[in-house]
Amino acid sequence: MDSKALITLNHIDVTFQQNQQTALHAVKDASLTINKGDIYGIIGDSGAGKSTLVRTINLLQRPTNGDVFVNQQNLTTLSAADLRQARKKIGMIFQHFNLMASRTIEENIVFSIKRSALSKKQQHEKAQQLLAYVGLLDKKDVYPRQLSGGQKQRVAIARALANNPEILISDEATSALDPKTTNTILDLLKRLNSELNLTIVLITHELSVAKKICNKLAVMQHGEILEQNETLRIFTQPQNPETATFITQASAENRVLQQLIGQQTATERLFLLTYEANTANQTLLVDLYQDYQVIPKVIYSTTEMIQGRLITKTLISLTENYPESLIPALQQRGIQIMQQTKEA
Ligand SMILES: Nc1ncnc2c1ncn2[C@@H]1O[C@H](COP(=O)(O)OP(=O)(O)O)[C@@H](O)[C@H]1O
Ligand SMILES: [Mg+2]
Repeated sequence: MDSKALITLNHIDVTFQQNQQTALHAVKDASLTINKGDIYGIIGDSGAGKSTLVRTINLLQRPTNGDVFVNQQNLTTLSAADLRQARKKIGMIFQHFNLMASRTIEENIVFSIKRSALSKKQQHEKAQQLLAYVGLLDKKDVYPRQLSGGQKQRVAIARALANNPEILISDEATSALDPKTTNTILDLLKRLNSELNLTIVLITHELSVAKKICNKLAVMQHGEILEQNETLRIFTQPQNPETATFITQASAENRVLQQLIGQQTATERLFLLTYEANTANQTLLVDLYQDYQVIPKVIYSTTEMIQGRLITKTLISLTENYPESLIPALQQRGIQIMQQTKEA
């Protein structure tokens, strides 16, 4: 096994028995490796099996088949007491925060360490340190209902850190928040990753979230992991055609693209190019003219930052008699090219 690996899921299956006849295969033969220090994203549509897969990491969900290794320890073979210990090293945060409404913010955090070796006084000191860390010490005596969504998620993060975990699992933790608050929570997660060397497993259906903070991604669809790779690679050179389709369809500009694609004439062919906005690619369209004498029409172009790199997507139109060798030549240059047709 890879020595940097902190979490290894080996051929995980999860089947839910619906009734006597039918079973739902929520996770199918999923394997992945997460290294120490990763911010590892699991992306996919709702119902893809993301939560079920991630809940096997601390065995909140026992896999029907397969093994779960955390720190080289096979959790599926541990005694109940050892599993309780191992779980302490894995914190979790959720979309709906899961705070206890009848306890103050400080008491919410103390609650999760009340059986630890710390004295009562130390537990309160620890809770206050954590609240200070997430910028909420002044709110220690208020109740969850008195906080905004972003503040509640900060409390949930502070609580998840109370047992000094090595791993934080974030299951759609920003999905109920507005974009600006989402960014402040993502910044906080990044800080935990760099300052505390916390490994983060982050489930999201929002591609913008994955682009912003994950260094690696696994793409799930219908219970299967389609592909796993560095975030930049997933968005610029997906290896699996289904991944390419998923990331295009789930992207914010897809509606614009569909509108433009709908307007194409019978003699036009539309291609979506994805490439890094570097010097070599600045002359891309000129090169197409020089090498093939084709004049690509630019219909739409956008650039965004992924893992600190500038990535451009350009929708071009070519006449139907374009030279076929143009496509492999672009791929050779590391440009992802997808022909676009009207969605059925
Ligand atoms: N405890 C459960 N019992 C039965 N079916 C479940 C259970 N948990 C999840 N499922 C089903 O498994 C599939 C995957 O769900 P989930 O892992 O929550 O997907 P995601 O997190 O990607 O939205 C869905 O069809 C869901 O209805
Ligand atoms: Mg889920």
